Amino acid sequence: MPNTILVGAQWGDEGKGKVIDVLTAQADVIVRYQGGSNAGHTVITGGRKYVLHLIPSGILHAGKQCVIGNGVVLDPFDLLREIEMLRGYDIEPAGRLLISSRAHMVMRWHRALDAADEARRASDRKIGTTGRGIGPAYGAKMGRRGLRIGDLLGDGFLDAVREATRETNETLAAWGAPTLCEEELVADYRAAAEALRPYIADTVATVNAADRAGKSILLEGAQGTMLDIDFGTYPFVTSSNPTAGGACTGTGLSPRRIDRVVGVIKCYTTRVGAGPFPTELADATGEHLRQKGGEFGATTGRPRRCGWFDAVVGRYAAMVNGVDFWAMTKLDVLDEQPTLKICTAYLRDDGVRYETFPSDLGVLSRCTPVYEEMPGWLTPTSAITRYDDLPVKARAYVERLVELIGGRLGILSVGPARETTLRLGL
Ligand code: IMP
Repeated sequence: MPNTILVGAQWGDEGKGKVIDVLTAQADVIVRYQGGSNAGHTVITGGRKYVLHLIPSGILHAGKQCVIGNGVVLDPFDLLREIEMLRGYDIEPAGRLLISSRAHMVMRWHRALDAADEARRASDRKIGTTGRGIGPAYGAKMGRRGLRIGDLLGDGFLDAVREATRETNETLAAWGAPTLCEEELVADYRAAAEALRPYIADTVATVNAADRAGKSILLEGAQGTMLDIDFGTYPFVTSSNPTAGGACTGTGLSPRRIDRVVGVIKCYTTRVGAGPFPTELADATGEHLRQKGGEFGATTGRPRRCGWFDAVVGRYAAMVNGVDFWAMTKLDVLDEQPTLKICTAYLRDDGVRYETFPSDLGVLSRCTPVYEEMPGWLTPTSAITRYDDLPVKARAYVERLVELIGGRLGILSVGPARETTLRLGL
């Protein structure tokens, strides 16, 4: 398989876990490039459901090398819990999982700050974070006061933990939030350092050596384009770059070594957390999509907001990421809709039409979606195994989506299990 970047094209939760799992069969090395345990990648196989937050889902395939890249922010305790969870299923990560020594850590005080910061924001300014400490951890990285995984093994690490705990406690106390116990943290991090020692490596060297040896590399993103810190609906975004550019900065693999980009996109739209969502449906249709699609967060269990497919978002994601192939997911969730709406553009209240996603949320709040309608197929699609066997109206819908956003269809998913995946050249 050519070296491939896999990105989410909407607000996350596009079904990347399943697509990564399918593509992993053809890859040698799978590298996660950004985000942290805010992500939840669900894979259902052999009648079992796995939810992975940090470890690439490639770990579920025997013999595949998995890497957590430098662009990820990693909570050591979450990772250790995930390793134990896999062991409970007789999957041994040791020897197959490497963690970049350059990856920054989400420290326990980052989680405390994330929760305290959300709590003190006014209701219209809350981001609705996952509470996993992501913003404060990336803030520390960019502010050049972060701690990296490699530091876990260094002499000064426990002193740094003591100092940061004391400093953070001052902030937490000033905000009226619970403070942290310094000695408890020191003991916990000492234990974590020993447990993680065997996994820590210079993964920039590993990934590039694999590339030179002709191995195929799958670079997996978390979240999605519209949650990107640069290209998303700022400030209602995550604190990293889920878009394709983040794959290079988050792994150390050169852009010149990337062969193609796969965008994962749901046949409708969802969003979890606060922020603009032009095609949101706050009605019975939205509720039907949520129930039928199981649209509840894999990490927090929060109900996801649901709405019609937004081709403005899709086109924008195609452009920003350079999507070659689409993996479209969850077509079956639309099986019972008599009519489907597709947003093709936005119309501002003064008549200005937007074909591309506006950067200004003030502008966006004055826009309403321009819809076209298509008839639904009203037939179950989950048992269908060949694209040509889909109802004509279902194919017409999918083909219209691809026509509106550009690129080629590579995978169409019609159900949650690995087996319900129609392959069209990917
Ligand atoms: P944070 O990444 O926890 O700081 O949350 C920032 C925003 O990104 C919130 O709206 C979250 O709900 C959203 N978010 C973070 N991770 C995911 C994800 O994996 N799927 C969907 N939304 C996410």
